[in-house]
Amino acid sequence: TMADHLRKYESLFTLTPQRMRMIVEAFKDTLELGLEKHGQIVPMIPTYVFGWPTGGETGDFLAVDLGGTNLRVCLVTLQGNGKFEITQSKYRLTEEQKQEDGQKLFDFCAECLKLFIDTNFEPGSIKDGELLPLGFTFSYPCTQDRIDHGVLIRWTKGFGAANTEGRDVAEMFRQSLEKQKLPVHLTAIINDTTGTLIASSYVNPRTKIAVIFGTGCNAAYMERVGDIPKIKNLGIDDDAEMVINCEWGAFDSFEHEHLPRTKYDQTIDEQSNKPGEQAFEKLISGRYLGEILRLVICELIDDGVLFLGQNTYKLEIPYAFDTAFLSLMERHVFDPTEELLMIIGIFSHFFALETTLAERQFFRALAKLVGRRAARLSSCGIAAIVSRKGYLEEGCAVGADGSLYNKYPGFAERVHEGLQDIFGDKGRNIITYHAEDGSGVGSAIIAAMTKIRKERGL
Ligand code: BG6
Ligand code: GLC
Repeated sequence: TMADHLRKYESLFTLTPQRMRMIVEAFKDTLELGLEKHGQIVPMIPTYVFGWPTGGETGDFLAVDLGGTNLRVCLVTLQGNGKFEITQSKYRLTEEQKQEDGQKLFDFCAECLKLFIDTNFEPGSIKDGELLPLGFTFSYPCTQDRIDHGVLIRWTKGFGAANTEGRDVAEMFRQSLEKQKLPVHLTAIINDTTGTLIASSYVNPRTKIAVIFGTGCNAAYMERVGDIPKIKNLGIDDDAEMVINCEWGAFDSFEHEHLPRTKYDQTIDEQSNKPGEQAFEKLISGRYLGEILRLVICELIDDGVLFLGQNTYKLEIPYAFDTAFLSLMERHVFDPTEELLMIIGIFSHFFALETTLAERQFFRALAKLVGRRAARLSSCGIAAIVSRKGYLEEGCAVGADGSLYNKYPGFAERVHEGLQDIFGDKGRNIITYHAEDGSGVGSAIIAAMTKIRKERGL
């Protein structure tokens, strides 16, 4: 029966508190190693964003955000009282654009920026020779040795644009901006987690950590320079603080020693454009959760358990089962018949398949297992940073953003539950909350902070 099958998947996808604590320990070691030495799997990238904002930063800033579901261009006005205004436009990237030549991708970003400036600024309102400060939120791992420079270590999240890995993406983007003769000055290149950390702390100073749960999964937090051995010889004051972009999605890559991977996870990995990489992210982020569920369903189709006599070809296309369907399946909607109407709808409308009530209950339970595992693994990452930094006793806030966090029902609650499983009651001291637009506002604040540092000759 479906119930027997469910039991098997329960044991595959369930994480016990004990197992979680083991993962946290390994995670802590990995964070430490990344801070100690250059070129580690989890690179713990120093971002050259120094310290927290005061909330008093002011001015108008442009931001281009590449790396989430959409390409975005924003105009942010910081009002200097922890408040801001934002105007933005979104643009879609095609799958081809993600794979074609990198310079072309940046050319497209510059074209979108031009369109945005042409529509949002009156002719003549930008004086001759005036340059608007522009922050570039580029949410892929980049090595930095200053704030306006970043060498792409590797693409993640399915991107594969050629001639980009190993190159300074700020320089590439500058070339594209010059082609359009845009009145802008690229002042900072930042990661979405870094932006989210700074933007969250601008509105909620209790924030110590930022996490993105979206197409990808990653975190940033603040570290004392003296505790980052790999940059100690640069002559920066030991007591200065710098944001670290962890790139924790890479945890356990290649070695696969610590994370409980099922054979579905292994299939996803092997069939991805980057086998072995982003092992942690592949168990958690929105890009993959739907695919995990689809692979389980396909296995049961092959075993003759599901959809006998029906044509299942639509469900057999890789990535056909969007993570949004998982959210919908788990959402409690008004359903007086208790027939799970939403799930009937998903399968009939998108896959032309009929389901029985028992099957629908099974699918919902399965979605819950996959979604819950993702949330609990994320708790392990958060717990590793919390315990490294000693934030447990006094507690802290974690600014979180991304489609998974914002749209998946109960995701935050499951992360909190996970933290309590790891830390006991004290886990309640760590609270996640939705952070407002890290990429746009964060890059504006960072551009403002950079300007202030420059004016002070730092
Ligand atoms: C947005 C944030 O809400 O979420 C971005 O402002 C972030 O900073 C994005 O990159 C990630 O989510 P997704 O789901 O679009 O990948
Ligand atoms: C991927 C990227 C990382 C980004 C995250 C969330 O993990 O490598 O830079 O922060 O996705 O968008």
